[in-house]
Amino acid sequence: MKREIIAYYDRLAPSYDASRFSGSYGRFIDARERDVLRAWLPRDPKNTLELGCGTGRLSAFAATATDASVASLAIARARNSATNFAAADAERLPFPPSRFDAVFAFHTLMHLEPASIRAIFAETFRVLRPGGVFIADVVSKTRRGLTGRRDADEAWHAQTAMTKREFDDIGRAAGFTSSRATGLLLLPVHRLPDRARLPLARLDAWLSHRLPSLSSYLIVGFAKP
Ligand SMILES: C[S@@+](CC[C@H](N)C(=O)[O-])C[C@H]1O[C@@H](n2cnc3c(N)ncnc32)[C@H](O)[C@@H]1O
Repeated sequence: MKREIIAYYDRLAPSYDASRFSGSYGRFIDARERDVLRAWLPRDPKNTLELGCGTGRLSAFAATATDASVASLAIARARNSATNFAAADAERLPFPPSRFDAVFAFHTLMHLEPASIRAIFAETFRVLRPGGVFIADVVSKTRRGLTGRRDADEAWHAQTAMTKREFDDIGRAAGFTSSRATGLLLLPVHRLPDRARLPLARLDAWLSHRLPSLSSYLIVGFAKP
């Protein structure tokens, strides 16, 4: 499964940014994720690591970024010379214990099987210093239960939805103690006409922050004690 996912992103790399983030829906998501990272990450990216960085859309928030897709990393390197990009499986990171103050992973865990997600949490815990934070998103199972699953070309795509409690349990099993949560996409933004989307971003941020589980995506900050 893992090989299939990485091969998919290797093929998609040249068109990933245009196909996923150039329209008003993608820009809506991108802007909200940047706001959360700006608010929750240390201001200086020097000791921040990104996992599953893909083509580097959010990598300016991290001095170090990793992915297993070599084609995606080539695009990321061309776009951002300030970040140090490395090819690595997020389940086995080439960094010493307590190397980072913060780690983040967006649009990545949701594609993976629970065993891989648990392995990534354990590895992230290892490379974080005490007091460090891991910020990650996942599809909200509560919301998916209300609205049903969207069709996807690949069975693994966004296969893993979790409740906030299930996500917290995985964090706790890895050693993380506390968490903060927000949401993304409470409004049915994909059903709105293009021109109505961006003007509603602040309302969606306000609503999804108060009702993370009812949003399409949960974004959680896990703390290492
Ligand atoms: C949907 S893309 C997200 C890219 C980027 N985070 C973003 O939000 O634009 C998912 C990325 O996770 C990477 N990925 C999936 N499983 C991985 C693993 N076990 N180790 C490293 N990267 C992985 C894929 O290669 C892909 O680039």
